[in-house]
Amino acid sequence: MKKQTKVIEYNLEATEFNWEISPGKTVKAWGFNKQLPGPALGANVGDTLVIRVTNKLTEPTTIHWHGLSLPASMDGTDASQKPIAPGETFEYRFGVPHAGTFWYHSHTNETFQMERGLYGALVVKDETDPVTDGDKIFMIDDMKLDANNEFTKPAWYVPRVVETHDGRQGNTLLINGKENPTIDVHAGQMERWRFINSSSARYFLLHMEGREFKLIGTDGGLLESPRTVTEVLITPGERMDIVVGPFNEGETFLIESLPYNRTTFLRPKRESFGTVKVGERRKSTAFTPDTLRKIEPVARQDEPVTRKIKLSVGPSLKNGMDFKVNDHVHVNDKPVKVGEIQIWEINNVSLMDHPFHLHGFFFQVLDENGRQPEYRAWKDTYNIKPRTKVKIAWIPDNRPGTWMYHCHILEHHAAGMMANFDVIDGSKPYTEKPVQHMHHHQHTHRHM
Ligand code: C2O
Ligand code: CU
Repeated sequence: MKKQTKVIEYNLEATEFNWEISPGKTVKAWGFNKQLPGPALGANVGDTLVIRVTNKLTEPTTIHWHGLSLPASMDGTDASQKPIAPGETFEYRFGVPHAGTFWYHSHTNETFQMERGLYGALVVKDETDPVTDGDKIFMIDDMKLDANNEFTKPAWYVPRVVETHDGRQGNTLLINGKENPTIDVHAGQMERWRFINSSSARYFLLHMEGREFKLIGTDGGLLESPRTVTEVLITPGERMDIVVGPFNEGETFLIESLPYNRTTFLRPKRESFGTVKVGERRKSTAFTPDTLRKIEPVARQDEPVTRKIKLSVGPSLKNGMDFKVNDHVHVNDKPVKVGEIQIWEINNVSLMDHPFHLHGFFFQVLDENGRQPEYRAWKDTYNIKPRTKVKIAWIPDNRPGTWMYHCHILEHHAAGMMANFDVIDGSKPYTEKPVQHMHHHQHTHRHM
């Protein structure tokens, strides 16, 4: 029997508004429907989403639907549409073929717009999801504020180089737009917690004071089987779904991020983002099966490489530092053909980590410096460690158009570590685009 699918409509209005991140501490946020994060959008597999975005900001914007397998014209980048000018409305419309934890965010002047709060969650559910007693979203972020709770402007010269190099890391740690929130759970129950790292640059190494939890899903939905761990790294753009509990009545513990050394100027620290309080006992109907689903491998591990991508960092006379793809900034990469398997070797020759994000398509990691990953998963964002080669495999299905990949540390992306490429229908003629320097970042730094 065919399941009933729906068309679900949302209206999002991007504005500036006052947002209280903790009692008495208010920032001039930019966000959707005067909420930070924006409204959590929901759908079931097979539904169609119609999302009208009205721009009430003072500058253009676009909204990218991170992780969703949508048509190229709905991808929400400067390459796929004309930015939504102040006062205008754009209607995004797409189906949601996969269950999982996704998110949406500004894709114009991101280092400014996302830092101020233009992001939200998008959750797609399916009947095959494990049954849990609760389902919560945790959008991780940080803001860099001064003593007056204003967003700091990176001043020439040294702080700006630190911010370009490390990415912008703030001192104000947020879960769902709030500083040190309390998260209530019932004793005896098990909940699904969906973590989304929406920060500019922070590596979030989730830890709950040593308590075990089960990792059940990531960017492209469920894993094959749950993995019991006490910590998991969530880099900017990535999602990790976990099942927590059962806990004992009266228990209290922190949601922390452990130090992760990604070779920044700023020293990594152990920091706390929120507090979990376990209340009265309730009965549980939760069940996490040992087999969540089957993930077929896209390719053999020794499948020949079809494309090499080099990520590097170097000094620049103009910008202080360039973040490069194949030795250039803001690159136009070669097209790929619909249906042709892609084996990409991403070679990070720099001395720092880069979370690599591919728009619109999931990939599988085949190996990392020759080693097979510990488990198979569908990813759209994957951390590439320094001096590391990661081989990924994916298939461009029939969604021709202009797509992109980039480092999800927003300052690295802005400093050049990005490429556009076309997915082409092999049966039609294709006019080559110049291979690089196509698209200079049109963003001004007038805010900074
Ligand atoms: Cu969430 Cu182009 O990125
Ligand atoms: Cu990077």
